[in-house]
Amino acid sequence: MKTIRHFLQLKDFSAEEIGYVFERTKIIKDRFKRYERYHPLADRTLLMIFEKASTRTRLSFEAGMQQLGGAAIYLNTRDSQLGRGEPVSDAAQVMSRMCDIVMIRTFEQSMVENFAANSRVPIINGLTNEYHPCQILADIYTFVEQRGSIQGRTVAWIGDSNNVCNTWLQAAEVLDFNVHVSTPPEYRVEPERAGLYGTDCFEEFEDPMQACAGADLVTTDVWTSMGFEAENAARLEAFADWCVDVDMMRVAAPDALFMHCLPAHRGEEVTAEVIDGPQSVVWDEAENRLHVQKALLEYLLLGRV
Ligand code: CP
Ligand code: NVA
Repeated sequence: MKTIRHFLQLKDFSAEEIGYVFERTKIIKDRFKRYERYHPLADRTLLMIFEKASTRTRLSFEAGMQQLGGAAIYLNTRDSQLGRGEPVSDAAQVMSRMCDIVMIRTFEQSMVENFAANSRVPIINGLTNEYHPCQILADIYTFVEQRGSIQGRTVAWIGDSNNVCNTWLQAAEVLDFNVHVSTPPEYRVEPERAGLYGTDCFEEFEDPMQACAGADLVTTDVWTSMGFEAENAARLEAFADWCVDVDMMRVAAPDALFMHCLPAHRGEEVTAEVIDGPQSVVWDEAENRLHVQKALLEYLLLGRV
């Protein structure tokens, strides 16, 4: 029986596979920009399960699947039996008999792992509390597009050691670059939760300015991720000194880029001057979700074409 490939964490893919997905991304993006029809996924159906809110992930997967000639179905917890306690393993058995590929946005990573273990078709992690691998594929593709290979470069991560941060750390191990992380002391990276296998690809800094020094890319994310809303007040206080501002960008490399997965809170994790400034590539970054995920869908469903 053919082994099913899933994309549940960034490290599910090798550096070589990510390179292949990026090659396909470029081709698929160029065709899209030329309005050339490309329908390799005709008659295929993507099921999208959302247990948390989304703008970019839903839109990029739904539009992307349609642009590839396939169809996408949106399910949320409230409107499906998952929200009424149907076991994930039962849902996976049924859903994967009706669809060709499934994208899931949920809370615990164990849910997507459990779903994948009971699925006949590939599963894509569209964000969990632990990881956001599609986001980092798009971010690195954006970096490569604008600055060339990320190998040996330095990324500064400022703020919360959340799902996006964890995925940057995994990517650094797979693609051989460095991450300088600066978080408040009580929100430090937990290597096990980040799924790291113990290389020295990341360094922690108490002072966010030091983390940014010489960085090729400065990036951050919300202080309170979805599912952690009860901690919002404590987080606002704890993270006050971890707002990416022009001083941080000034100590980074002169051609450093700024990225944010969005949605952003200007005046919290980043100033308006930085996110709306000349070094920010957040709109290209968001757009590239569409292009890399189309390449990802093609790869998981058709293999190498
Ligand atoms: N960056 C991201 O995943 O955005 P959404 O929450 O809008 O999908
Ligand atoms: N860390 C954020 C990312 C949103 C795209 C969250 O999990 O809410």
